[in-house]
Amino acid sequence: MGNNVSIGLLGLGVVGSGVIKLIEDHQEKLVHQLGTSVHVKSVLVRNPEKARDVDLEKTFLTTNPWDVLNDPDIDVIVEVMGGIEEAREYILKAFSAKKHVITANKDLVALHGPELQEAATRNKCDFYYEASVAGGIPILRGITDGLASDHIQQVMGIVNGTTNYILTKMNNEGVSYESALKEAQELGFAEADPTYDVEGLDAARKMAILGRLAFSTDIDLTDVEVTGINGIELEDLQYGDKLGYTMKLIGYANFDDHQLEVNVQPTLLSKEHPLADVKNEYNAVYVYGEAVGETMFYGPGAGSLPTATAVTSDVVTVIKNLRLGVTGNQFTEPHFKKKLKTPAKRFGQYYVRLHVKDQAGVLSTISSLFHEFDISFNRILQTPVKKNELAEIIFTTHQTSLENFHTALNELKNLNEVIDIKSYYKAEGDGNIEMARTTETL
Ligand code: HSE
Repeated sequence: MGNNVSIGLLGLGVVGSGVIKLIEDHQEKLVHQLGTSVHVKSVLVRNPEKARDVDLEKTFLTTNPWDVLNDPDIDVIVEVMGGIEEAREYILKAFSAKKHVITANKDLVALHGPELQEAATRNKCDFYYEASVAGGIPILRGITDGLASDHIQQVMGIVNGTTNYILTKMNNEGVSYESALKEAQELGFAEADPTYDVEGLDAARKMAILGRLAFSTDIDLTDVEVTGINGIELEDLQYGDKLGYTMKLIGYANFDDHQLEVNVQPTLLSKEHPLADVKNEYNAVYVYGEAVGETMFYGPGAGSLPTATAVTSDVVTVIKNLRLGVTGNQFTEPHFKKKLKTPAKRFGQYYVRLHVKDQAGVLSTISSLFHEFDISFNRILQTPVKKNELAEIIFTTHQTSLENFHTALNELKNLNEVIDIKSYYKAEGDGNIEMARTTETL
């Protein structure tokens, strides 16, 4: 590899430009750390004529992928073009050409990670993807290196900035989901088509990757249950607040007794939970390890330079491996056979909002029904809905199995006194009413 390592970049968008800038601006530090210079030699782009806010003097732009993939001087390919099929094809070709690969592409890693890992191993190439989860937060190395000796039991993440921004707005300003989304779009925090973010699909991909690495097991994207924040009503954030909770889109992955659950869902977090204070577009990942206890990693989940720091950390790792002559590495390979938990083995607390007939004995009927399934209530709120002679009942439960909770909800629908189950959400912790912003007493 000589005194310089040459990199080939596939794509020159927001992240690719950040990578070039970081490598050029921090060259002296990189040379000091690595004992070699690092240089982006060529870049695959769609349009070489496009004006770009990056110094490309020493860099060759091409529209032909083979100029990059077949260049014998290039040791490391950095894929920041996005998309799935083309990116997958180019990465597989890069491995066949014995080039090490770094990607920021969460969709690709979530969908085809195992295939790419296998190709990397077969060709004795390194394969890293730190930037695929939570942008600038070094969470994948935090899990695989920092907590390598620990038994990780739980990972909870706010891994989507768009939805966190929307929920923060709703919470702080008391605006509806629709107006918070509109404002997020106007400010560029949400895409014109926000489906991928608000339906939880982006977070699901990140949780599949996090879960694989945290628990050393294969997780398919289809194993991740997903509920997004679209359709969320302000009332539930406000009632949640009164009960001492904050609504967040939480990616949850839990592993015990070699059984696994991974999901993404709007969750009412106790205001005491470390993730409850993560606001606006920020991301954070909470990791609970048997030995270390609680840890939390916080930072920007997107953006040119933050994401480029993650990509460049992979570049540094690959070059260190090259210098040591120990290639063929990746974060971790699956070790445990996957077994998903049944609903009887999944435990949690829940928040439920109901419309019921405003008459004597309703609350006791509902609580008897839940008692039959061994579910006890934690807190209860009741308010009359005057114009319809209805009452709105909101309660949170203590820990129960998902199976019992769903059975109780189904039975609840059949009660004559219950008009409508307006909403239900997972709750995390008991809520802290001292931290509620409201001055009303419950
Ligand atoms: N769309 C993502 C988010 C950023 O809103 O967090 C890229 O993963």
